Amino acid sequence: MKPMLGILISVLVSVFCSIAESKCSKECDLALASYYVWEDSNLTFIAKVMQSDLNITPDTIVSYNKQKIPNKDSVGQDIRINVPFPCNCINDEYLGYVFDYTVRTGDTYTTVAQTYYANLTTYQSLQTNNSFDPNMIPDVNTRLKVPVTCSCGSSSVSREYGLFITYPLRPNETVEKVAAETGFNSTTLLQSYNPGVDFSQGSGLVYIPGKDQNDTYPPLASSKSGLAGGVIAGIAIGGVAGVLFIAACIYLGYYRKEKVEAQSLLALSEDLSAQNEHGLGSSFEKEVTGAGGGPAPGLTGITVDKSVEFSYEELATATDNFSMANKIGQGGFGAVYYAELRGEKAAIKKMDMQASKEFLAELKVLTRVHHLNLVRLIGYCVEDSLFLVYEFIENGNLSQHLRGSSGRDPLPWSARVQIALDSARGLEYIHEHTVPVYIHRDIKSANILIDKNFRGKVADFGLTKLTEVGSTSLPTRLVGTFGYMPPEYAKYGDVSTKVDVFAFGVVLFELISAKEAVVRANDSPSESKGLIGLFEDVLNQPEPKEHLRKLVDPHLGDDYPFDSVWKVTMLANACTHENPQIRPSMRSIVVALMTLSSTTEDWDVGSFYNNQAMVNLMSGR
Ligand SMILES: Nc1ncnc2c1ncn2[C@@H]1O[C@H](COP(=O)(O)OP(=O)(O)OP(=O)(O)O)[C@@H](O)[C@H]1O
Ligand SMILES: *[C@@H]1O[C@H](CO)[C@@H](O)[C@H](O)[C@H]1NC(C)=O
Ligand SMILES: *[C@@H]1O[C@H](CO)[C@@H](O)[C@H](O)[C@H]1NC(C)=O
Ligand SMILES: [Mg+2]
Repeated sequence: MKPMLGILISVLVSVFCSIAESKCSKECDLALASYYVWEDSNLTFIAKVMQSDLNITPDTIVSYNKQKIPNKDSVGQDIRINVPFPCNCINDEYLGYVFDYTVRTGDTYTTVAQTYYANLTTYQSLQTNNSFDPNMIPDVNTRLKVPVTCSCGSSSVSREYGLFITYPLRPNETVEKVAAETGFNSTTLLQSYNPGVDFSQGSGLVYIPGKDQNDTYPPLASSKSGLAGGVIAGIAIGGVAGVLFIAACIYLGYYRKEKVEAQSLLALSEDLSAQNEHGLGSSFEKEVTGAGGGPAPGLTGITVDKSVEFSYEELATATDNFSMANKIGQGGFGAVYYAELRGEKAAIKKMDMQASKEFLAELKVLTRVHHLNLVRLIGYCVEDSLFLVYEFIENGNLSQHLRGSSGRDPLPWSARVQIALDSARGLEYIHEHTVPVYIHRDIKSANILIDKNFRGKVADFGLTKLTEVGSTSLPTRLVGTFGYMPPEYAKYGDVSTKVDVFAFGVVLFELISAKEAVVRANDSPSESKGLIGLFEDVLNQPEPKEHLRKLVDPHLGDDYPFDSVWKVTMLANACTHENPQIRPSMRSIVVALMTLSSTTEDWDVGSFYNNQAMVNLMSGR
């Protein structure tokens, strides 16, 4: 009986889950079509062929193209205009809308696709969806089904965009030209939204974030697909069975997307462990008791907080009385010492400041935030001054590696991309997955540590006064480092996650050039220049690529794929955009770097665009 029931449930679950999880991963109701206004066409005609459930009139079209169509009676030719159309899930297979076209004398699939529908559809698509002889469409009132695809965006690229233009590429276009034409400036994001697409291929469709009638970019709507369907079905089934059903759907859903979302799954589980504050002590405690053989004194596991609180005596012993020999660094807030603490290697930061009550409360939360790409705060001590105990990271900081101090070999390009991706993941985690979410505010190469496997970890998370996103109170003082601070923060103290994105962009520039964030002129301080400015100068040249080569870290020799360096430059450029809203989110940066690093490993960038399956997987398509 029981096994039978189990099989029945799993069959039911898989059937229902596949219904709930249709092939259209998202739905958004509305999309825009970029219509190339050809000679002899006019708004009346365009409104007629693009007629849909939306009841398009020439005025509707004008309202979406105010800058381009000042007067609806005289539309310029050879321009592109955006025409709104419904974006639905068609046959559970793709996102699009099927227009209804009434044939006129002499029409062929070619003229319908290439002229009347301005390449928004194709000959092939008309042929598959209609059953006429392509060379002889019977005229007089015959109707053609004209499918046009659309996109609703992708939460794995950015949640900031939820309205998309279906954009037929034309000969002589490039990603830069498309960006200029549509006014959507991030070429990196354009590429992320269209993985594997060569924008200069001269034909084919791409999807570009678009603006609504109010001239703003509508954000991604919360997901209506998969899970929501499951929830509704769950409610319908009711009770325990429903809960089981949802759990199974979630489980199966995650399982299917395992590769793509391994990272967020990790984050989820870590989130859970981070919140599990009433567990039997931290994992450090478990490790120590395990490694040390028998519980260490003072570690009984009864009072959880005690496991992260150390006595001054214990720390002094562990650092040989904070001896010079144990000192590994000096920063703005104090000195850092190497320690052997309860059998583990640790780094202890002795801070020249007192901890406030609020700060201590925050510290306790911080000791529960665990992520592979964040240097873990093991605990603290508040006797005398404030001490923070971190896990020890073997290989120094990124700044040292780039500037070759303490005799370190220069990092190969692939390692640099990996370290960028690692730190981006660490930041994405605190920006999006912790409760509450945090802003680091002191991202710089000295705060990115390198472990023994040359993976990157973000350090000093929690050292700056932490700011909850959305908190309105002004920061009491500016924390951060010159050369890494965005204008809105330096000028007005505006704090958002985009402060970290900006600083991360500067770190990317450092990875490329190995130069410091502030490039100091030898004698005259007045000639010091920000690294961003240096790259800006290069990108403003008529041949930026040629000039970029001269900025690349000379230690790399010719041992780097230029294409990859160029893409990182574009990404860094987007991150350091003056307008915080235009800077990408850490999440989309992770996606971009993931695609890049998977191809940089063997330095065979050519294979990037060919491996469509992988790219699709990466972008969650
Ligand atoms: N957990 C750690 N493991 C190993 N080395 C560390 C660790 N934390 C810090 N260090 C080393 O100690 C140095 C000094 O760190 P510290 O954070 O005090 O200064 P900083 O990073 O240069 O500046 P800031 O005070 O703005 O963070 C770091 O640059 C790093 O090399
Ligand atoms: C609009 O364009 C269509 C198609 O080219 C044409 O048949 C029609 O006469 C035009 N109408 C006006 C008012 O120009
Ligand atoms: C559609 O594509 C064809 C072939 O590339 C081109 O000749 C034609 O001008 C395009 N039509 C429009 C309206 O852009
Ligand atoms: Mg630091």
